[in-house]
Amino acid sequence: MERTLAIVKPDGVSRGLIGDVIKRIEGRGLKIVAAKMLHMNRAQAEGFYAVHRERPFFGDLTAFMSSGPAVAMVLAGENAIARWRELMGATDYRKAAEGTIRREFATDIEKNVVHGSDAPDTAAFEIGYFFNRFEIVA
Ligand code: CDP
Ligand code: MG
Repeated sequence: MERTLAIVKPDGVSRGLIGDVIKRIEGRGLKIVAAKMLHMNRAQAEGFYAVHRERPFFGDLTAFMSSGPAVAMVLAGENAIARWRELMGATDYRKAAEGTIRREFATDIEKNVVHGSDAPDTAAFEIGYFFNRFEIVA
């Protein structure tokens, strides 16, 4: 069993896409073992995306991620990290495969509706960023 962090980003929440995203997660057989809605401030968004702090899009990205509420979830299952990234599709929705969340719903390379961890170490950091052990069900 592997765990990964999923986020419905502020564009997804404001556009009413929480249900669509959860439907796909559950439909794919991934288990939601923790969930919360939160509105990050700028510093919290910067901490979450610290790995990208040298990238040209860091300022815009952290402004966007702190622009409104988001829904953070922990997903569990075999190969959860790769399976969730497969459901999301490529970062750039124009390059994302047919049927993926980003291909269907993203409007922009930045406003791409969902986040997913990309490796076991980043998943552990990202899950711990939002959830303590009592907030994740067994
Ligand atoms: O989210 P993902 O892991 O697919 O992509 P990333 O390379 O880790 O980038 C994190 C986020 O930064 C993306 O999901 C986009 O919202 C944003 N981004 C951007 O605005 N412009 C780029 N050229 C690349 C990423
Ligand atoms: Mg990433």
